[in-house]
Amino acid sequence: MSKADLIVGLQWGDEGKGKIVDHMAQTHDYVCRFAGGHNAGHTIVIGDKKYALHLIPSGVLNPKAKNVVGNGVVLSPVDFIKEMQQFDNLEGRLFLSDKAHMLLPYHALIDQAKERMKGDKAIGTTGKGIGPAYGDKVARVGHRLGELLDPAKMTEKIVSFFEMNKPLFDAMGVDAPIEADLLAELEGYKKILEPFICDTTQLMWKIMDEEKKILLEGAQGTMLDIDHGTYPYVTSSSTVSAGACAGLGLNPKDIGKVTGIAKAYCTRVGNGPFPSEDFGAEGDKLRENGHEFGTTTGRPRRCGWFDAVAMRHAVRVNGVDQVALMKLDVLDGFEEVKVCVAYEVDGKEVNYVPYDLEDATAIYKSFPGWDKTEGVRAFDELPETAKSYIEALEAMIGTKMGIISTSPEREDTIIR
Ligand code: GDP
Ligand code: IMO
Ligand code: MG
Repeated sequence: MSKADLIVGLQWGDEGKGKIVDHMAQTHDYVCRFAGGHNAGHTIVIGDKKYALHLIPSGVLNPKAKNVVGNGVVLSPVDFIKEMQQFDNLEGRLFLSDKAHMLLPYHALIDQAKERMKGDKAIGTTGKGIGPAYGDKVARVGHRLGELLDPAKMTEKIVSFFEMNKPLFDAMGVDAPIEADLLAELEGYKKILEPFICDTTQLMWKIMDEEKKILLEGAQGTMLDIDHGTYPYVTSSSTVSAGACAGLGLNPKDIGKVTGIAKAYCTRVGNGPFPSEDFGAEGDKLRENGHEFGTTTGRPRRCGWFDAVAMRHAVRVNGVDQVALMKLDVLDGFEEVKVCVAYEVDGKEVNYVPYDLEDATAIYKSFPGWDKTEGVRAFDELPETAKSYIEALEAMIGTKMGIISTSPEREDTIIR
């Protein structure tokens, strides 16, 4: 029986997971998403073409790889159908779990209304409806994809749920779906999605028994994890390694090599603590050099320095075997590069992630910068100071950086 290789984000998302999944998909038979929804935005650059994927696994660009969307994902039929239109011949190479929960248009309205109500305490969500869709799942009032196969029954359930909760929805300004429109809408989704819906747990077991090469694609990042991130400024799913098992019907023994994806610096979109954020000119330079604007919402990303304390936390939580260090080239031209090596909390130095990261102030160490790493494809060809920076990071987090990325291009990737 084969073991599945796993890709997870180690920071606050947008680490460059899409590029590495696409790179690894060349040598894998299946790419499987296990969590999140269309809050994710995974960018893949091949030659002069750029793709932004939100729900379809990043294996789709490799014609040989098959793609699975697991039960841990929340799937918006309308957005999924839009994304499917970019690709031909998906039948036979795309499988959607009948147990994945549907994210429906009212979830987005609830998400946006709740954010408005929170005012300056808003999470800064993507507004796509992720929290309400997972909320309904956990409250046991959600709708699984399998339900779509009987649209009349599903319509009845949604309408009666809305009737029961009418005062609440009225107060939030969320309109109840009209029965006739809803039925027509669900029938439309069914017509397109039915050929792809199946029991993906059975499929996963079968392909593992057949010794297929399987890659599991995480979304978001460890610091956005519902349990291990900076709660409540997190997303609503289990973004870490353990989530890959629950989100696909695997057991821990099914997991093979875990590759954690991390930028050579740090970014975050949305609100919440970020101790190594740089509010000055250097933060602006990171944003400019790294084109740090959200793939999903277009929002400027907050930028700062590599946080070795949060990284150690992420490496341990995920059982990372190797780190892929992304966007090293974005640090090109900096005279000095900083790393957060510890936090100060209540006047004391700590080297772990405290209960509330808001209370932590970054303690930095500086490293000499370098001119150019962009496009370099061999470790030995990197400038000496860049090599020393990488080796210092490896020592701080106790993990090898087996992959180093020096541009968005598939081939600008150092494998050590
Ligand atoms: P994901 O959500 O983790 O898949 O990451 P995103 O796609 O949201 O953001 C990463 C961005 O960085 C994308 O625009 C990638 O094309 C780009 N990128 C990935 N690797 C590199 C790299 O090594 N250098 C540079 N300059 N850009 C990169
Ligand atoms: P990928 O897969 C970066 C952030 C949002 C917000 C918080 C909660 O591309 O790395 P949500 O809409 O999930 O309820 O928002 O999580 N967030 C992401 N940030 N990359 C992502 O995905 C993200 N998905 C959600 O900005 O702070
Ligand atoms: Mg992204």
